[in-house]
Amino acid sequence: MSENLDEYRVRMSGIKKSFAGVKALKGVDFSLRRGEIHALVGENGAGKSTLMKVLSGAYDCDEGEIYIDGVRAKIGTPRRGKELGVGIVYQDFELAEDLTVAENIFMDNLGSHGIVRWSRLFASARRMVESLGFEMDVRAPVCDVSVAYKQIVEIAKALSTNARILILDEPTAVLTPRETDKLFGTMRVLRESGVSIVYISHRMDEVFSVADAITTMRDGEVTGGGRISDFGVDRVVELMIGRKLGAMYPPRGAETDGQRPEALRVENLTGDGFQNVTFALHKGEILGLFGLVGSGRSEIARAIFGADRPTGGTVYVGGRETRIGSPYQGRRHGIALIPEDRKEQGLVLDMPIRQNMTMTNMKKIRGPLGVISAQREKETAEALAKRLSVKTDDTGNRADCLSGGNQQKVVLAKWLNTDSEIMIMDEPTRGVDVGAKVEIYNIMNALAARGVAILMISSELNEIIGMCDRTLVIDNGEIKGELSRGEISEERAMKLVVGGV
Ligand SMILES: Nc1ncnc2c1ncn2[C@@H]1O[C@H](COP(=O)(O)OP(=O)(O)OP(=O)(O)O)[C@@H](O)[C@H]1O
Ligand SMILES: [Mg+2]
Repeated sequence: MSENLDEYRVRMSGIKKSFAGVKALKGVDFSLRRGEIHALVGENGAGKSTLMKVLSGAYDCDEGEIYIDGVRAKIGTPRRGKELGVGIVYQDFELAEDLTVAENIFMDNLGSHGIVRWSRLFASARRMVESLGFEMDVRAPVCDVSVAYKQIVEIAKALSTNARILILDEPTAVLTPRETDKLFGTMRVLRESGVSIVYISHRMDEVFSVADAITTMRDGEVTGGGRISDFGVDRVVELMIGRKLGAMYPPRGAETDGQRPEALRVENLTGDGFQNVTFALHKGEILGLFGLVGSGRSEIARAIFGADRPTGGTVYVGGRETRIGSPYQGRRHGIALIPEDRKEQGLVLDMPIRQNMTMTNMKKIRGPLGVISAQREKETAEALAKRLSVKTDDTGNRADCLSGGNQQKVVLAKWLNTDSEIMIMDEPTRGVDVGAKVEIYNIMNALAARGVAILMISSELNEIIGMCDRTLVIDNGEIKGELSRGEISEERAMKLVVGGV
C-alpha cells in the first residue's frame, strides 16, 4: 500500500446513507490527518452534516467503512462516537437551556458519580472555557447566554470528553468577526495539541484563512479536495456548485435617484437595545443596516414589524404615522420581516415544506369558493422551491427533513411569497450556499425593481457593499453614520463601528 495509514486519524470509505429514498451520501471517501483543520464545503443539502453525523455516531451508515487511527471502527451510536474521541458541535444547538453553563459542558459525565460536586464542577468548567480563550459566568443558565457564547459552551462540551476529532458544523454563523478570530485562535491551539478538526462553512474567506485541507461535496458525493494551498476560491466554488459562478452581486437595472416616494420612516425609535434611531426607506430602495451581531439591529427590525414594543419614537408607513402593536398589524401595513433566528421564529418543523411556504399568503392558494386548493398550494410551493433551489423531491415532506441551509430557504420563500411593500430581511443569506446567495440577491433586485422597499440587515460587509443603495452603520444600538453606494468601503464602515471617524 502506498499510503501510510498512520498519518490519518480518520479514513471513511464508500459511505452510503439514505433517508426514506433520499440518497444523502452516495459512497463518500473522506480522510482526516492528525492535527489538521479540514474544511468541508458544499451546497446546501450536499451531505456535509450527514457525513459528519455518521462519523460522530448520530447516524449509522448503510454501507461503508470507517477507520480511526488505522483501526476499523464500528461507530453507530453517539456514545461509541464519544468513546472513540469524536466531538461534534451541531449546526443547531443542542444545549439544555435551563441548566447552567457548567452542567451543559459536563453533561455527558455528570450522572456517573451520583453526586455532583458543584465547586469542582464550576472550577473545571471555568478552566475549560478559559483554555478556549473566553470568559463567562459558568454558573449562569444557558438561556441567559448570548448565541456566540452558546457556541463556545458547545465546543467546551464537545471537548470535555477529550475529543481528538472535533467537528464544527458552521460554527461562525452567529459570531462577530472578533469572536470568529478568537475561535480560529482556539482551533489553531487545538491543532497544535494534535486534535483534528473538521470545519464546515459557507464562508470562503474563513475557509481559506483557517483550513489546511479541504474536501468539496456536491449532491452526496465528493467532488474534489486536497491541500488548501492548491486551490483558489473560484475552483472551490466550481467544485461545490458544478459550474462557474457568474457575478456574485448581479448588477441592478436602474439606480435609485433618491426622489422616490418614502415607504417607511422611523423617528427617534427607542426600545430595548437601541436608542433614537431615525431613518427613511424609499420605494425601490435597498437600504443596508450594517452592524455586528448584538449591535441592536435585530431589535430595531422587530420593533418596526411589531414583534416587540418600542418605548419611544414614531413609525411612519407611506408618510402616515402608524402604531404597530403586533406582527399581525405589521403585516396589515404591508411589512414583512424575515427573522434572523429562522429555526425558532420562522419555521414549523413538523409541518410540510409546502404549508410552511404558503401560510403567509393564504389568499394566493384559495380556490374560487375560498377553500384552500391543494393544487394551488402545491404549485405555489414548487415554483418557490425551484426559484430558490430548495433541495427536495417533494414539497409535501416535513420541513425537518431538509438540510440546515434548505430550511433557511423555506423561510425566505415564505416571506417572498407575500405581497409586502416593505421587506425587512435580517441576515437573508446566512447559512445558504454561494449559488443560492446569488439567487437571493437576484430576487431582492427584482423586488426592488418592482418598487418594494428593502431593509437589509447584515454583518457581511461584502454583501452590504455589493447590494445596497445606502447603508446605515449601527453599533451599540445607535446609528453611527450613513454611507452611500459611492462612499462605502470596508474600511469606512468598520471605522464607524469601532468609533473612529
Ligand atoms: N433526518 C433527515 N430525514 C430526511 N432527509 C434528510 C435528513 N437529514 C438530511 N436529509 C437529506 O439529506 C441530504 C443531505 O443533507 P445534509 O443535512 O447532510 O446537507 P448539508 O450539506 O449539511 O447542507 P447545509 O449546508 O444546508 O447544512 C439533503 O437532501 C437532506 O434533505
Ligand atoms: Mg448541514
